[in-house]
Amino acid sequence: MKKIEHILSIQDLTEDQIHALLDLASIVKEKPQKYSNCLQGKCLALLFQKTSTRTRISFQNGMYQLGGNAIYLDWRTTNLHLGALSDEIKCLTSYVDLLVARVHEHETLETMKRASRVPVINGLSNKFHPCQVLSDLFTIKEQVGKFDGINLAYIGDGNNVCNSLILGCTMVGIHVSVANPERYKPAPDVIKWVQEQKKSKFLSLYEDPKEAIREADFIYTDTFVSMGQEAETDERLKVFKSYQLNKELLQHARKNPFIMHCLPAHREIEITSEVLDSKNSIVFEQAKNRLFLQKALLLTLLSEN
Ligand code: CP
Ligand code: NVA
Repeated sequence: MKKIEHILSIQDLTEDQIHALLDLASIVKEKPQKYSNCLQGKCLALLFQKTSTRTRISFQNGMYQLGGNAIYLDWRTTNLHLGALSDEIKCLTSYVDLLVARVHEHETLETMKRASRVPVINGLSNKFHPCQVLSDLFTIKEQVGKFDGINLAYIGDGNNVCNSLILGCTMVGIHVSVANPERYKPAPDVIKWVQEQKKSKFLSLYEDPKEAIREADFIYTDTFVSMGQEAETDERLKVFKSYQLNKELLQHARKNPFIMHCLPAHREIEITSEVLDSKNSIVFEQAKNRLFLQKALLLTLLSEN
């Protein structure tokens, strides 16, 4: 199989590479001891422009559990704001073996990739959140054992998580139905890419969330106001009001669909507590699985054999 170089988007992976990562995550989850010293002497840098709970801790502790070292860098405490980004990244990546970066603008990752001496992984940008979606695919497979014939509905903002879900689901053959308000659609180049890959039969776009969830086995939502969009909060909360994942909306779905959310959740805004805490909700298993998928990524990108 081709070696993975950088992961700025799911598009950087082949379908086979995705399946290999999911298989490895499953073994890592089942037999953590088997890999406990595999990354001895390796170092991961986590460079974040935005806050994080799941991504940061699952990568950092995942690296420790594999015998390696991880250094967390809050962007504001580095000299990245003083020097040219490419100079600073060239230096930083000469000390470590892998860089995970969380950035405001996706283009920043492209610059990092060009300057980096080691693989760069997108830990979330305004456009994509590939690590989240890889672990979501793992969670889906864990619940239903297959992708073929599975329907996932995403309702809400056409944001980074939505873009990556569209790419990840269509790539592995999950049918994804997306409902967003007119002005908050997924990125046009993401839709175009799906068409170019001849995967359009796995994607349906709606405005009405009731239509999107009708056949869903999994229903997924995310915040209406992503990190960095705080100034748009009032306007967004108005536009997205009818997209709340609540009991009334679920009356239009099949019986007992699994409920997913990448977290952090804003209770009673994009999802009600009643739904988030319901027996069909798998959001906390979904969050826990981030650890196993990150370990699979670390092992794949860093082990010598
Ligand atoms: N889902 C996710 O990426 O969470 P964090 O922002 O807490 O890392
Ligand atoms: N769309 C959200 C995801 C958080 C994990 C954001 O970018 O803030």
